[in-house]
Amino acid sequence: MTASTAPAANNLEAFFMPFTANRQFKKNPRLLAKAKGVHYWTPEGRKVIDGTAGLWCVNAGHGREEIKQAIAAQLEEMDYAPTFQMGHPKAFELAARHAAMLPGDLDHAFYCNSGSEAVDSALKIALAYQRARGEGTRTRLIGRERGYHGVGFGGISVGGMANNRKFFGSLLPGVDHLPHTHLPARNAFSRGLPEHGAELADELERIVALHDASTIAAVIVEPCAGSTGYLPPPKGYLQRLREICTKHGILLIFDEVITGFGRLGAAFAAEYFGVIPDLMTVAKGISNATVPMGGVFVRKHVYEGLMTGPENAIELFHGYTYSAHPLACAAASAVLDIYKNDGLFQRAAELAPYWEDGVHSLKSAPGVTDIRNLGLAAGIDLESKPGAVGARGYAAFVKAFELGLLVRQSADTLAMSPPLIVEKNQIDEIIDIFGKAIKQAA
Ligand SMILES: Cc1ncc(COP(=O)(O)O)c(C=O)c1O
Repeated sequence: MTASTAPAANNLEAFFMPFTANRQFKKNPRLLAKAKGVHYWTPEGRKVIDGTAGLWCVNAGHGREEIKQAIAAQLEEMDYAPTFQMGHPKAFELAARHAAMLPGDLDHAFYCNSGSEAVDSALKIALAYQRARGEGTRTRLIGRERGYHGVGFGGISVGGMANNRKFFGSLLPGVDHLPHTHLPARNAFSRGLPEHGAELADELERIVALHDASTIAAVIVEPCAGSTGYLPPPKGYLQRLREICTKHGILLIFDEVITGFGRLGAAFAAEYFGVIPDLMTVAKGISNATVPMGGVFVRKHVYEGLMTGPENAIELFHGYTYSAHPLACAAASAVLDIYKNDGLFQRAAELAPYWEDGVHSLKSAPGVTDIRNLGLAAGIDLESKPGAVGARGYAAFVKAFELGLLVRQSADTLAMSPPLIVEKNQIDEIIDIFGKAIKQAA
């Protein structure tokens, strides 16, 4: 690289930042330069406690030696191998390990590189499965208002966050949405699962009555809606959704990109709720965010339903150059060891009541209108300033960062999801800083 093409370290202009107000950010940037455990450090060396596990993904904490070593060893042995009509041992080994820890007969794993790819892969698998079993008229996909399923065209079509959809044309045809489950008038400040709203799952019956079951391939929901501000499901809601899907031959997809790998204090939300979806999407905690990875876990009947036709026929015309990338497989396998050896899912379950008490202690902070929690995550709604939706949330997010805490902001909702290795005194620190940030942003 010649001096003229070397990027200037202080030039922020060239990077087109994702999901960011680029011009605002570049005037007053927030940079992270180093990470270890539950902390980040800014380039100036200021310590920031990671209240969001990066972006809900660094579940085992930052800078884990075991993962580093596994990736380095894999890089030494084999950097890359294709998985189209070829294979490498780590991919099969990882799939077998995932299958062994998944509930029910979710015992096949398709790999990709992100949550968005996982969602689009799951939707395609659902459509292909329906066709393979002679139900090719089932092409409709049902999502949910306020859902977030990544940014692919499939994901934004079934997703239900208006800003992620409205700029991008007509999206996939034949998609419908269930109502969201946020009922603050009845459920505000619920601890854990809200009491009211299971009947919202019955809206699926209304959608079936409108379109007919013979046109519907799959329903996709996040067991706990994450990006929209953390909405744990009403008690009994997921069970009812499962029953209605089963009754009508509709596949149920759980998008566990956030809930998977321990966030709720169980390996998966499916296990936590005792509700087994037909397909499950994962990413984030699958590799502790060290090497990008996503996956679709598939139940036996779906996988076997696709294993039709002559044996030399490719069963699913879908995949990515980097499906089951060796470095991602090495990282994902190492993080499974950490989850197990450190008992991190159990740890999250044990810390959850302490976390719940902590976040609900913010109830009387200025402008707080709702607090929700489940596992080691929480969503806190602030009252919007008149005519300036999002201003208060942004101010609180920036204040928190200035005071040494990273949180996640979506309009006037703030979400927190610390690494599962967080200590009780660090939870205290998170709550303390967060309370100050809300006050100062009021
Ligand atoms: C539930 C859910 N699905 C899908 C995605 C998309 O994942 P990615 O950003 O890795 O594409 C996310 C990301 O936050 C998510 O929370």
